[in-house]
Amino acid sequence: MTNAHARVFSGVQPTGNLHLGNYLGAIKRFVELQERFDCLYCVVDLHAITVWQDPAELKRSIREVAAAFLAAGVDGEKHIVFNQSQVSAHAELAWIFNCVARLGWLNRMTQFKEKAGKDRENASVGLYAYPNLMAADILAYRATHVPVGEDQKQHLELARDIAQKFNNDFSKSIAENGLPEKFFPQPEPLIAGPATRVMSFRDGTKKMSKSDPSDASRINLTDDADKIAAKIRKAKTDPLPLPETVEDLKTRPEADNLVGIYAALADTDAAAVLAEYGGAQFSGFKQALVDLTVAKLSPITAEMSRLVADPGHIDRVLVSGAERASVIASETMRNVKDIVGFVRGA
Ligand code: AMP
Ligand code: TRP
Repeated sequence: MTNAHARVFSGVQPTGNLHLGNYLGAIKRFVELQERFDCLYCVVDLHAITVWQDPAELKRSIREVAAAFLAAGVDGEKHIVFNQSQVSAHAELAWIFNCVARLGWLNRMTQFKEKAGKDRENASVGLYAYPNLMAADILAYRATHVPVGEDQKQHLELARDIAQKFNNDFSKSIAENGLPEKFFPQPEPLIAGPATRVMSFRDGTKKMSKSDPSDASRINLTDDADKIAAKIRKAKTDPLPLPETVEDLKTRPEADNLVGIYAALADTDAAAVLAEYGGAQFSGFKQALVDLTVAKLSPITAEMSRLVADPGHIDRVLVSGAERASVIASETMRNVKDIVGFVRGA
């Protein structure tokens, strides 16, 4: 049964190389949440262009992310799958939030600092304002739950602050327009399970990322069985056998990562994995992990390539999703315009 007052929203950027971290931290959870919530899953192309994207590559990538959602089991008919740029409310509400959020709040965002690097003066204004757009994505639908990986926690906190400041700044106008005091809800992050932060196979202290120059650092959702096997076999580990307890994983980042991946793929937890493999050599465990990863990912990979071969179908799913998303978001925008004091005719 779905909860009438609850709504899930999440987004993935179409910036190439979807990987196992995206799958376990986000997309796999999207699928699970469909049973309990009304869900919107968005390919966030407006976010993607905060750093340069080649236009032809961007188009390909938008369809690929949509294909990954569907291939993993997201239902684009019962729920809403769309790309952000087709619903103008995202950009409109983001502008209003640019005027609600404070510079000091954005200055604290660690992802901007990481992505802008040393050459901050040369980063786009969009990259800086990115978290305000993310808040708009969620709040345009007054979404209550947001499944994301650990790296998005700070952005979610900012979205909550924006919602609260908007509600406070405009409390009088919200009441005068006959709208609920808490016009925007406080969106709750859903960050849980054994793989909220999947790490690089080359360096257990760095997260698995689309932009890592080493392809061996990640499993791409387009990798075939041979590639998956080779990457797992080569994944960095320490020389000791697998620990016996979850406690002992804490000081063993590479072991912790591989055990977490195994647990997430097998829908269990680290303790259960160690009950089976604690004390074993990595070679045996890695073979089991190869078998499990290939078994879980190859049907998704195959379905993704089938879907990508039919862009017309994907585009129809995205258009239908955008139409349904627009209905919800336009209602929010009508209210927001009244609240802010814009004149919008009858
Ligand atoms: P992005 O690729 O940055 O658009 O991320 C899409 C989703 O995948 C977000 O919910 C991220 O938090 C999640 N994600 C990205 N990288 C990882 C990772 N290494 N481990 C777990 N989740 C991740
Ligand atoms: N910023 C997220 C990421 O890089 C993607 C994203 C954009 C998102 N808008 C969102 C995630 C809204 C959840 C909700 O991973």
